[in-house]
Amino acid sequence: MDTDVSQVGWIPVALNNAVQAGSAIRVIAGTDDIALWRGKDGVAHAWENRCPHRGMRLSYGTVCGNRLRCLYHGWIYDGSGTCVAIPAHPDLTPPQTIKVRTYRCVEAGALIWISDEDNSAPAIDGHWTPCRSLHIEVAMPDLPEILKWTKVNSVRPLSTYAADVALPDQGRLILAVHPMGSKGAMLHCALPASARRDSLLSASHWLGELRSRIEQAAVV
Ligand code: FES
Repeated sequence: MDTDVSQVGWIPVALNNAVQAGSAIRVIAGTDDIALWRGKDGVAHAWENRCPHRGMRLSYGTVCGNRLRCLYHGWIYDGSGTCVAIPAHPDLTPPQTIKVRTYRCVEAGALIWISDEDNSAPAIDGHWTPCRSLHIEVAMPDLPEILKWTKVNSVRPLSTYAADVALPDQGRLILAVHPMGSKGAMLHCALPASARRDSLLSASHWLGELRSRIEQAAVV
């Protein structure tokens, strides 16, 4: 499934602990290559993974306070994606037009969500804790299809890509599907913040079994 972020609303691209304050990672969302980074202030940002100067991946960059510094020539971008310093020209104030393409980025349900649209972000009540993310090797079925491969007591949709699911023995969890175009998809799982260690282990095991069932079905 080729998914253009500009056409699909909010996509869950990572559990919230996948990108720590002061770090940057690369994620694929649909067909888009994204630099996901978190400033020292704890705010997460999702940017096109391409420096406006010479195209270096910004996910290789260094987080300096609440700014991101490109690895290649050291151009520095503030939280809005605007270039604020060019080391080779220390006396130059960079033109405001040098700007990274940014995505909207919010956190809810222990997930980081991004969107290219001006629509309302997923509203997820309560406090959640990240559990596990797994890569799935098959062309992506949608969330209702995935849920056919496991027993569920009830499902409350949270968005196109996530649902609050009650499982027979493992209690309640959020299951999120993160489409990555030709690279398959990620499954992300979060539990209520009150979940104990045995519940987290049990849900992690459940997610692994779910992935196996889906991948086995895909090769039959
Ligand atoms: S490619 Fe990023 S500063 Fe040159």
